[in-house]
Parts: sequence; C-alpha cells; structure tokens
Amino acid sequence: MATDDDRLLDHEYDGIREYDNPLPTWWKLLFYATILLVPLYYWDPFGIGVGPGSTKAYDAEVAQFAAEHPTTTGPTLSDEQFAALATDSRALADGKAVYTANCAVCHRADGGGQIGPNLTDDAWIHGATPAAIHTTISEGVLAKGMPNWGKLLAPEKVDAVTAYVISLKGSNPPNPKAPEGVTP
Ligand code: HEC
Repeated sequence: MATDDDRLLDHEYDGIREYDNPLPTWWKLLFYATILLVPLYYWDPFGIGVGPGSTKAYDAEVAQFAAEHPTTTGPTLSDEQFAALATDSRALADGKAVYTANCAVCHRADGGGQIGPNLTDDAWIHGATPAAIHTTISEGVLAKGMPNWGKLLAPEKVDAVTAYVISLKGSNPPNPKAPEGVTP
C-alpha cells in the first residue's frame, strides 16, 4: 500500500526498484518503549516476572546474613552456660591462652591486678554477673584503658576468656590489688 510518505528510491538492480517504506510512527514508539523497559527487566527492582525482584532479593540476603552472623556485642551465652563453661577444662584452656596473651599485661598473669583491677576478688566495678563481665570484656572501658575485646577477638574467644575470668574468682593470688568497686 503506497502512501504519500513512500518514495521510490533511485537505484535499480536487475530491473527491481525499491520503495522507501517507513514504519508507522505507532510501531516505532512501541519499539522504543520496549527499549526503555530493558533496565526494569535487567535490574528488576520491583519484581517483574520471575523471582522476588532485586530489592526483595537483596533484603532477603541481608536478613539471611544477619541471621548467620549475629552481632558480637551483648552476651552470647546465658549465665548458666557461662557457669558451665567456667568448669569446662577445654574452654578454660582456651580462655587461659587468650588471657595470657592479651590480659595478663594489665591484670597480671594470676589475675591479681596491676593497671587493671583484681579479677580474683569479690568486688566488681562493672557488675559481677557473667553477662556483665562478658559485656565489660566485649565493650571495654575505653576511657579507663580497658580495650573493647569484642572488636579485637573472635566471639568464642571472648566467651572463653569470660569463663576463665569467672573461674579466677576466689583463687587468692599473693599481693593482690585492693578490691575496687562493689561486692554484690
Ligand atoms: C591496657 C590494659 C588492659 C588490658 C590489656 C586488659 N584490661 Fe581489663 N581492665 C583494664 C582497666 C584499667 C580496667 C578498669 C576499668 C575501670 O576502672 O572502669 C579493666 C577492667 C576489666 C574488667 C572489669 C572489672 C570490674 O571490676 O568490673 C574485666 C572483667 C576485665 N578488665 C577483663 C579483661 C580481660 C578478659 C582482658 C583480656 C582479654 C583485659 N581485661 C585486658 C585494663 C586492661
């Protein structure tokens, strides 16, 4: 069907001539619209077609990661679990290794206290419960020079050294530092 737009092109091959027969505008607009939709399908933020969409898929991945990697601040074990750990010889051996390497410089190898307070007596500045001791070790008391070990050690090492500190109580080392804090 020839319209006004049609233009007989001026080449000829073997007697064959050609019309320049442009596509209708509505057809071209539809074609361009599909091109504009490509990013939507490619990155799929809203979940067009198969799957939850990139936004929901991302949120799900973040939630799964958070579930698999709980934050290390705050006690990871209950008081009973810490008490059990404080009598577990393997955990205590791990805890003692962590303690000797990281804590003895300030609290003395036997926990009797030096720069840091005595860890073997009944008095506590920051709380005597296993959860409180764990929190002090994990978050530190930066203003007083006690490092935040939760940022420096793996969570299971913080747990083990917490159990070791709990086990030091009542060990009566010679020449202890005077009690600091309150006795519960
Ligand atoms: C650079 C010195 C230093 C090191 C190393 C250090 N501490 Fe301390 N720690 C301190 C100081 C100082 C305090 C007292 C903070 C205060 O006065 O509030 C303290 C307090 C504590 C307390 C709280 C005592 C209480 O009475 O409430 C615990 C528990 C403790 N440290 C455990 C540890 C453990 C476990 C480690 C090793 C992983 C460690 N510390 C390493 C300096 C240190």
